[in-house]
Amino acid sequence: MVHCHILFVTFPAQGHINPSLQFAKRLIQMGVEVTFVTSLSAHRRMTKTTGPPKGFNFATFSDGYDDGIKRSDFDPKKYMSEIRNRGSQTLREIINASGNEGRPITCLVYSLLLPWAAVVAREFHISAALLWIQSATVLDIYYYYFNGCFAINVENCEDPSWSIELPGLPLVKSHDLPSFILPANSDIFNTLQSFKEHVETLDEETNPTVLVNSFDSLEPEALKVIDKYNLIGIGPLIPSAFLDGKDPSDTSFGGDLFDKSNAYTEWLDSKPKSSVVYISFGSRLSLPKRQMEEIARGLLESCRPFLWVVRAKQNGEEEREEDKLSCMEELEQQGMVVPWCSQLEVLSHPSLGSFVTHCGWNSTLESLITGVPVVAFPHWSDQTTNAKMIEDMWKTGVRVKPNGEGTVKGDELKQCIEMVMGGGERGEEMRRNARRWKDLAREAVNEGGSSNKTLKAFVQEIREDGQ
Ligand code: UDX
Repeated sequence: MVHCHILFVTFPAQGHINPSLQFAKRLIQMGVEVTFVTSLSAHRRMTKTTGPPKGFNFATFSDGYDDGIKRSDFDPKKYMSEIRNRGSQTLREIINASGNEGRPITCLVYSLLLPWAAVVAREFHISAALLWIQSATVLDIYYYYFNGCFAINVENCEDPSWSIELPGLPLVKSHDLPSFILPANSDIFNTLQSFKEHVETLDEETNPTVLVNSFDSLEPEALKVIDKYNLIGIGPLIPSAFLDGKDPSDTSFGGDLFDKSNAYTEWLDSKPKSSVVYISFGSRLSLPKRQMEEIARGLLESCRPFLWVVRAKQNGEEEREEDKLSCMEELEQQGMVVPWCSQLEVLSHPSLGSFVTHCGWNSTLESLITGVPVVAFPHWSDQTTNAKMIEDMWKTGVRVKPNGEGTVKGDELKQCIEMVMGGGERGEEMRRNARRWKDLAREAVNEGGSSNKTLKAFVQEIREDGQ
């Protein structure tokens, strides 16, 4: 068999590391050599918690914050420029060294926010593929936006009747678009600029490959609509034990950046079937105290057991999410608050009844593959578009409505939980749909399924290139 060596570079955030590691694991199972590159600080944290998966060569670059990030002296511009400069240099060194050692790099796979990696691949005449860790729909929206197919201004945002129909996509209102393209966006990493560079870099190539963490039946139109790109659905990128079961030992992504508590397992075991509300807003969001208190009120008034992930303070951070809650004792009588958990284990637990989520793309896919209905509580980035699809396309959940000041009140949250878990027809329908998506997601990755076939074809193509 032809030796195949993929250089894999990923942005050091949990939502990027998880699907990247999972994809890399699948490549290794297919006999591909993988060298996985991320920041030194992320690698240190991964090694300290779960310990990175076996079979990988790891390499790291400094992002300028090797010992953790203090919010007060964090400079996002400096951060992105360090990653670009040092990351590019590290990739060059690995490509040269691998060539000298007789295990040349055959393809460079890079994840979101790292458009410069494609430029390095070009310098060395190596093929490159973008691993798009969000939905195909969101990629299409950015493609249309940066190719001048639509614009949005403050008046459009304020007009509730404004909407736009883009080829292959559902009708979207301003609050369904990825938040970074709205006039009043809060985008500390200047993510929009990175997305623009991604689109520009792809547009310069002929039929560039974009590997999307999605699958054909989930986004049938969105995966096909851009003729210029070779968009292929290879997802969901989820550990095998939760999906096709081919490798029952594959139970975690293997790269947690946060310390985990396992104390919840017994607690979940003690709860009746489909009774627990699981609530988590991913790895990055930090909510205002006002919003945290409203969520606490909604959960308490729902009178249901809940498991809430409230992240603990990280090395270098001054603020604790938990300190924003004044009713911790009351909360712990009805539910459980943990700093981090194995989300997939929790979602797969029989006691789980619903998932209140910020709709990060990984959490969205994880709700679908475990068949758990959702209360969609989006905040920014692609989460708003994912919430639209959850509510209107896949119909596996309901989206919360914030008040005029942008806060979701406790009563609203309580009503949404009731709708998803209660006895009404709509709740029944959401739970039925959630179960259907669980089957469809499995079909996609099983032998002969759409993602299984495209992944094999991708590896075959790299092997042929390497000959
Ligand atoms: C970020 C963006 O916010 C999101 O919008 C984008 O789609 C991906 O990058 P993040 O906010 O971390 O991601 O959310 P998400 O995409 O849902 O990823 C979080 C990951 O952390 C999931 O794989 C989830 O299983 C895991 N997780 C979360 C845990 O393992 N334990 C937890 O307690 C919480």
